[in-house]
Amino acid sequence: MEVILKSDPESLCRLAADMITDLMQRKPDAVLGLATGSTPLKLYAELIRRHREEGLDFSRVRTFNLDEYVGLGPDHPQSYASYMRNHFFSSVNVHPDSTHIPNGFTEDIPAECAAYEQAIQDAGGIDLQILGIGTDGHIGFNEPTSSLTSRTRIKTLTARTLADNARFFEQEADQPHHVITMGIGTILESRQAVLLAFGDSKADAIAQAVEGPLTASVPASALQLHPKAHVFVDEAAGSQLERQDYYRWVYDQKPR
Ligand code: F6R
Repeated sequence: MEVILKSDPESLCRLAADMITDLMQRKPDAVLGLATGSTPLKLYAELIRRHREEGLDFSRVRTFNLDEYVGLGPDHPQSYASYMRNHFFSSVNVHPDSTHIPNGFTEDIPAECAAYEQAIQDAGGIDLQILGIGTDGHIGFNEPTSSLTSRTRIKTLTARTLADNARFFEQEADQPHHVITMGIGTILESRQAVLLAFGDSKADAIAQAVEGPLTASVPASALQLHPKAHVFVDEAAGSQLERQDYYRWVYDQKPR
């Protein structure tokens, strides 16, 4: 696991954007795994800037999002499909047919989940997966005690995640308690994974995920099994890491 600590989220998002740009230059039809929430907003803004100002071309890129709320159709303002359109897809030249988000409005959830896994396989697998982390250590919406080999399926959100995400909903009753999420096994099959975390509220989860034991109680700790996982944290999110000096030492010696 590579851990990079920097003072500001902006420079970490530029680093993540550099990784995506390099990948797209090597493989114009790259398969990106994408996340929603507050964390990747600056990354999407940077990718949009590179598209507009530097001609970064998404015309052949394929995308798969981690998750979607059960019961919210793609046009619902709080759906992750709306989020992705508003914050990224409508501002770059990705083909709408090449973007994939689980359909939370389906009547057959197991069939939707199996089809989502198949679509990822048919695309040749995910080249680079962007991840955020929940304050309870979730990745995707794999809440604590999720199987470390899980595939795309329905999950029930924890009370903590519901509270963390309540800010996106006008009324408590509007917030779905269930999601369709890629599994931990699905995420571990990505060829590279970049976990972004900013702010104090993520410090405990990051320390447990990176330096704690591998455990289903902290789903992000499963990234310890990933062959190419990068953890990009600002000072606040990295503040409880015991080996901060070592991570900085490694980064300073990295050939550039
Ligand atoms: C979102 C997702 C979640 C979020 C996590 C952090 O698609 O899968 O794991 O990344 O809940 O959310 P924010 O970034 O809002 O703190």
